Amino acid sequence: MFTVLGATGTVGGQLAASLLGDGHRVRAVGRSASRLDTLARLGAEPAVADATDVPALTDAMRGSSAVFVMQPADATAVDHMASQRSMTDAIVGALRDSGVSRVVVLSSVGAEIPSGTGFLAGLHVMEQGLASLPDVDMLTLRAGWFYDNARAYLPLIQHAGLVADSLDPDVAVPMVATRDIAAAAREALTGESWGGGHPIREILGPVDLDQATVTRVLGRALGLPEMEYVRLSDDDMIATLVAEAGFSPDVARHHVGMTRAINDGRVAARHTGVPVITGPTTIDDYAATLAEALLSPDKR
Ligand SMILES: NC(=O)c1ccc[n+]([C@@H]2O[C@H](COP(=O)([O-])OP(=O)(O)OC[C@H]3O[C@@H](n4cnc5c(N)ncnc54)[C@H](OP(=O)(O)O)[C@@H]3O)[C@@H](O)[C@H]2O)c1
Repeated sequence: MFTVLGATGTVGGQLAASLLGDGHRVRAVGRSASRLDTLARLGAEPAVADATDVPALTDAMRGSSAVFVMQPADATAVDHMASQRSMTDAIVGALRDSGVSRVVVLSSVGAEIPSGTGFLAGLHVMEQGLASLPDVDMLTLRAGWFYDNARAYLPLIQHAGLVADSLDPDVAVPMVATRDIAAAAREALTGESWGGGHPIREILGPVDLDQATVTRVLGRALGLPEMEYVRLSDDDMIATLVAEAGFSPDVARHHVGMTRAINDGRVAARHTGVPVITGPTTIDDYAATLAEALLSPDKR
């Protein structure tokens, strides 16, 4: 039995489905029974648990041969870091109480930096909390920026034919396909790809990519060859996230704190000596899959 946190999410969903496809038993964790229903119909055991609820998380993890851990972000949190700390405390407490001995963790490039990195500081807190479990074998996957973040831009692409964020257009960003992260996590959960202890890997795509290039590739695949990347000022990005995406001001500031740390080169991949897993999916592959999914409603 494998327990998957964030099983209705982008990475956890693909991971849970692929484990089920291989015939493994899966306990799929999320906050809503109805959102877990798709996986339940594929054979997963649904487990409703909030990431701050130690008893429910403990029940969800107990008896698992390995657990996939991800720490969600609450976009509405008034105090983002306080919210992240309470999730870390609960996840660590549940791992301890459930007696699980093998864990695969989704983290991020830049999580090694304690502060000044916006969202990534929350994952630093998570990594530090998990490090307090020395008897648990734990592989941490520090992922690059997901290609799949493009999905968040789709309403803007559809309405204005552009992509906008607070990343500088010409900064090469470590990026990766979520399907490659899910594949690495599946191998780590089920196979012998690592021994024990607390190893860390970066999981990255074949090359780092700037947003001008990403936008060009996405635009071509989506039939919008003129699509442009617009670099919003940090203040405009915060205002947009609050007004259009329902983020709290503090969470929006953490997004911009992260992009600022990427823009100025403090957050970068392949420089910490951590071994790298290179996912095979290119941005062109991803863009083609996204375009196909948008054209066939059953694959959305
Ligand atoms: N986006 C990136 O570029 C990037 C890069 C590196 C690392 N990361 C990290 O990857 C993780 C996000 O992974 P993802 O994109 O696969 O997730 P996602 O698609 O954002 O989905 C979030 C998942 O977490 C669950 N969830 C949300 N709030 C919860 C709560 N309070 N209690 C329990 N479950 C909760 C959601 O389930 P329900 O809503 O159904 O409860 C859903 O399954 C984050 O830790 C992020 O920092 C992201």
